[in-house]
Amino acid sequence: MEKIVSLCKRRGFVFPSSEIYGGLGSTYDYGHYGVLLKQNVKGEWWRAMLRERDDIVALDAAILMHPRTWEASGHLEGFTDPLVDCRTCKLRFRADHMEQSACGRKPSKAPGETPDCDLTDARDFNLMFETTLGPVKEDGTTVYLRPETAQGIFVNFKNYLQFSRKKPPFGIAQIGKSFRNEITPGNFVFRTREFEQMEMEFFVPPDEAPTWFEHWLEQRMSWYTELGLRPDHLRLRAHAEDELSHYSSATSDVEYLFPIGWSELEGVANRGDFDLSQHAEFSGQKLEYVDTASGERYVPHVIEPAAGADRAALAFLVDAYDEDDVGGEPRTVLRLHPRLAPVKVAVLPLVKKDGQPEVAAQIHRELRARMSAEYDEGGAIGRRYRRQDEIGTPFGVTVDHQTLEDRTVTVRERDSLEQERVPIAELGDELERRLRAPWSSPKLARI
Ligand code: GAP
Repeated sequence: MEKIVSLCKRRGFVFPSSEIYGGLGSTYDYGHYGVLLKQNVKGEWWRAMLRERDDIVALDAAILMHPRTWEASGHLEGFTDPLVDCRTCKLRFRADHMEQSACGRKPSKAPGETPDCDLTDARDFNLMFETTLGPVKEDGTTVYLRPETAQGIFVNFKNYLQFSRKKPPFGIAQIGKSFRNEITPGNFVFRTREFEQMEMEFFVPPDEAPTWFEHWLEQRMSWYTELGLRPDHLRLRAHAEDELSHYSSATSDVEYLFPIGWSELEGVANRGDFDLSQHAEFSGQKLEYVDTASGERYVPHVIEPAAGADRAALAFLVDAYDEDDVGGEPRTVLRLHPRLAPVKVAVLPLVKKDGQPEVAAQIHRELRARMSAEYDEGGAIGRRYRRQDEIGTPFGVTVDHQTLEDRTVTVRERDSLEQERVPIAELGDELERRLRAPWSSPKLARI
């Protein structure tokens, strides 16, 4: 993980937030390449949810919602973690994370393991951030930063039945920020207090819920493997009865083998009719599906694949990180799936003279209309390749003296390091063909 964190900072993927003020606990800013990577992760999610299906529609709901939402959803009462204070070192810990936590005085020990530790009993701590709506704090209404995007979908269910002409089974998908005042955030962007979720609520006739649950487990596992995550680093883990959230009758986590061990990447839950029934009760509105032909009416059950965009991006980074040797020189390379790579192609003149920069710049202008492309003419060619390898650019196009004679360039592949001469006239089509081709991690071959 330290290597990933350092590469992310060095190459402008992720920075600690407000760093000039010493940072703010576990908040991060995405730099240029991080923005492009996360954008591609979200784009692939939208592609799988919307473009490749016709039974899901999109939503972008407000972060601030009516406070009754959180009474109905159970978050006001139950979205808590057990908190333990240490009276000696003044640190706070999650009672169920004590073994992974470090004592404030003696970080090699867990809290409670030294004679100086003076721990309180565990008490429930609500993870929702509060703020006040309106200009006068004292007179304002307390509202909450949403701790999950899902509730924005449930409160819009009625709107969607009316306008979208969909009937169950159908889904509503949303990507957006969520906030949780985590007691023990950490492990880089794995657990933060502000993060982006990619959630889809799939409304189904009650008797079809178990079948759709299996469908979404399979779909979501395939999504990660098709985007290059090594299958042996991915697994499904069903929640035990006592682990289930208050709304869930069955949940399975997609887990990835992070450097911190197997950890949740995404949860797929059968939420039953809990949310629609609760919002119906609290709002006084009927939230049910009525079949106009048969007159049949029911409250749909919900299957929810809930992923984190930051956590997915981190998993793709971890899976992609590699070190090898090129011509006797060590190289760090991100073997990202080409569809996820922030930059698809770098155009590099071999030397900064003889008309090569002008030709390369022209090629770059043409390519960038079709894909994310960079032009770089500064420094030795080897150094420029290394830089592109570190940000995961799958293709390097080099303009050399032969280009000026026969209008061909070399295309270098990041993974195989193979170089092939391609006519400039065919370059865009050729790169697009390669970007569409199936890809699997070269790290797999080493197992
Ligand atoms: N609506 C259901 C729900 O929110 P969750 O398992 O609490 O379920 C879904 O969250 C996903 O959101 C997680 O699998 C994870 O990827 C991401 N996530 C949750 N808390 C997070 C945090 N503090 N930091 C980063 N990502 C988080």
